[in-house]
Amino acid sequence: MTMRICTVVGARPQFIKAAVVSRELAAAGIEEDLVHTGQHYDSSMSRVFFDELYVPAPAVDLGVGSASHAIQTGLIMTRLEQHLSDAGHYRLLLVYGDTNSTLAATLVASKMQLPVGHVEAGLRSGNLRMPEEINRIVTDRLSSLLFCPSELAVENLAAEGLTEGVSITGDVMRDALEQFIDVAKARFDISRMIDHEADRYYLATVHRAETADDPDRLRSVVDLLASLDLPVVWPVHPRASKRLKEFNLTVPGSINLLPPLGYLEMLSLLSGTKAVLTDSGGLQKEAFWLRKPCITLRSETEWVETTRGGWNTVTDIDPDRVRTALAQRPTGEQGAPYGRGDAGKEIASILTGWQGKGSRR
Ligand code: UD1
Repeated sequence: MTMRICTVVGARPQFIKAAVVSRELAAAGIEEDLVHTGQHYDSSMSRVFFDELYVPAPAVDLGVGSASHAIQTGLIMTRLEQHLSDAGHYRLLLVYGDTNSTLAATLVASKMQLPVGHVEAGLRSGNLRMPEEINRIVTDRLSSLLFCPSELAVENLAAEGLTEGVSITGDVMRDALEQFIDVAKARFDISRMIDHEADRYYLATVHRAETADDPDRLRSVVDLLASLDLPVVWPVHPRASKRLKEFNLTVPGSINLLPPLGYLEMLSLLSGTKAVLTDSGGLQKEAFWLRKPCITLRSETEWVETTRGGWNTVTDIDPDRVRTALAQRPTGEQGAPYGRGDAGKEIASILTGWQGKGSRR
């Protein structure tokens, strides 16, 4: 009998991850209904990813939009519960990463006795002030299948007593990068996107609530970026652009603000940058894979493996630490801590062989 599953996505990076896995699920003969929660809804935050990555439009859009954590999570839960009740039998609900969409979907499925598979399981920052950390811990605890990107993720789960249903698959973002880097560079020439030559700019992103929502921290980030030795290209997430306006922050001309970019444009800019400054998780890994030095503007990282060999330096927003890190040019071996680009196939293969055993319920 064909296996039928429901996948829930809602935020930008999840569209990229699901694009990789959905293709492999289809190739393995697994039937998938894609549900979009609507957490990200602007065309530049959602539709562009479906178009660029050739993902069929979601079967269902729950249309929740932006709101407080409780309202957003609650709305997704209410509407997803209705969809799952109407849609009939699924064998599994598949979720990605650590957003409110991930958490809400996991809670609903768990209470409906529907096993959950979590892609990007086992990540921990150790910082419970991050909403993402709360989302990860709860999602992992309730998931029956835990698809880990790395050994460390498996160890993190074991430390919390989670060993059943755990597998190392590698990171699906690596699959995506390998599949799309050439087309990204061919389709989006850097010279047509920005006024700077390759290796003559830094690429920066800031979107985490703990930075963007704090006026002093956001001002420090702007000052920091303005003080660097090269111009900065900053594609601005809507959360950050809203806060820049609200806090009346003036951005100097050496910082080139761009609207939110699609995946391919971002990969192309990344391939030409001298270094990356970011608080994003995904970008830390993409920089690592493309052998671009990364400065992480946070006090910790979940992607600890990227710091080995000096490829990623966690500096918080300390200008001296940032400048020191930028002056160093890492050259070390990286190994393959997140697999070699076949995570999607591995996940599809585990699902094909899965008999529903190992369910926590
Ligand atoms: C969410 C995730 C974060 C992830 C990020 C990826 C949570 C708790 N956070 O953060 O883990 O790294 O997505 O991008 O789930 N907005 C728009 N248009 C949109 C979407 C958002 O204008 O299409 C604005 C709204 O003002 C909204 C704000 O951005 O209030 C934040 O959006 P939200 O989805 O709440 O969180 P993100 O910061 O995007």
